[in-house]
Amino acid sequence: MKERQDLTGKHIVLGLSGGVACYKAAELTRELTKAGATVQVVMTEGAEAFITPVTMQALSGRPVYTSQWDARPDNNMAHIQLSREADAILIAPASADFIARLVQGRADELLSLLCLARPIERVPLLVAPAMNREMWAHPATQRNVAQLQADGATVLGPAAGDQACGEVGDGRMLEPAELRDELIAFFQPKRLAGRRLLITAGPTFEAIDPVRGITNHSSGKMGFAIARAAQEAGAEVTLVAGPVHLPTPRHVRRIDVQSAQQMYDVVLPAAARHEVFIATAAVADWRPAQMNAQKIKKDGKKQAPVFELTENPDILAAVAALPQPPYCVGFAAESEHLLQHAREKLLRKKVPLIVGNLGPATFGRDDNTLVLVDVDGHRELPTADKLTLARALVRDLAERLKTSA
Ligand code: CTP
Repeated sequence: MKERQDLTGKHIVLGLSGGVACYKAAELTRELTKAGATVQVVMTEGAEAFITPVTMQALSGRPVYTSQWDARPDNNMAHIQLSREADAILIAPASADFIARLVQGRADELLSLLCLARPIERVPLLVAPAMNREMWAHPATQRNVAQLQADGATVLGPAAGDQACGEVGDGRMLEPAELRDELIAFFQPKRLAGRRLLITAGPTFEAIDPVRGITNHSSGKMGFAIARAAQEAGAEVTLVAGPVHLPTPRHVRRIDVQSAQQMYDVVLPAAARHEVFIATAAVADWRPAQMNAQKIKKDGKKQAPVFELTENPDILAAVAALPQPPYCVGFAAESEHLLQHAREKLLRKKVPLIVGNLGPATFGRDDNTLVLVDVDGHRELPTADKLTLARALVRDLAERLKTSA
């Protein structure tokens, strides 16, 4: 499958100030260019003590700027030219000193000068702090960061963890892939700004005994992609996940469950606090009527055990039947007659939208084809990777919410 290039057409000025985290800026440059961006690196003198412009030029494919006296721009004004070309300026790493300089509006070296000279309405400034935990926690830094945000900058991180100085705490710069995803999310249209979404994802696991159970091949990828796309679009997202091996999308609140009953117990009380409920989970329809407390052993007579099954609660139908239900979106994974089954589910579960996909063709895969079915008809979202489809679904959903309001 072709890799998505979510930053195609974006020109990023990547500014490095002095700090050990400069080593991550090399990888960050690769991540941004792989995602389709062009990257113009600008370094302070402090940054040059940690990584060379040679490395950064090789990785970005462009000469690095380090001085406001650089005579290469025709008008001899690097700070003007570089800031006018940018779709965003990302400072990574941003040292405590550099943040203080931004807050003061200092302009005695190229990087802070170009941040000050940028057209503030058009060129966003994103800042990824990196420093020792005491420096980060110091009231002076906290005051500066608050002021920087009040001045319109977006602060990314920092994360907590091991620090180069040997201490452990807040102040680590986000990892390159995390910064790339933050930047991608930053550029997504905020179609669901302020909306609260509840999403179920993955399979459920219905225990037979302490070591065995009934489950299915759902990987959770589609639900996780929708959670990410909704978060990128500005929504506040709660993701209730069955047993899956997927990283939690950034800024998404995740609650892990095992069985359908546990999923029901988490979802039902939470549903009323959300404006949208998207049920992508492949919930097991049945569970063993009784769970054996101990592992079931072979009886030595070649007699296979017989299990009685009991039906699980239908989470989607229960949410849709609430007195003031959120806008409910169901998923239908079918092996045949997709449209017909999707339409039946729309009526049976009393929901305004069912998203159909062919189960065996989607479970565990990275790409998918979806068909959106409502009372008026259906619309296909053509085959694409699951995040692209999730963004298309978010776009569609945002329109539906506007008209259902
Ligand atoms: N669903 C649910 N709770 C269940 C079963 C299903 O919330 N106990 C939700 C799924 O998350 C999905 C939709 O209902 O959004 C359709 O699920 P599916 O299992 O395909 O439909 P069923 O109603 O179980 O019908 P059938 O098994 O006959 O296809």
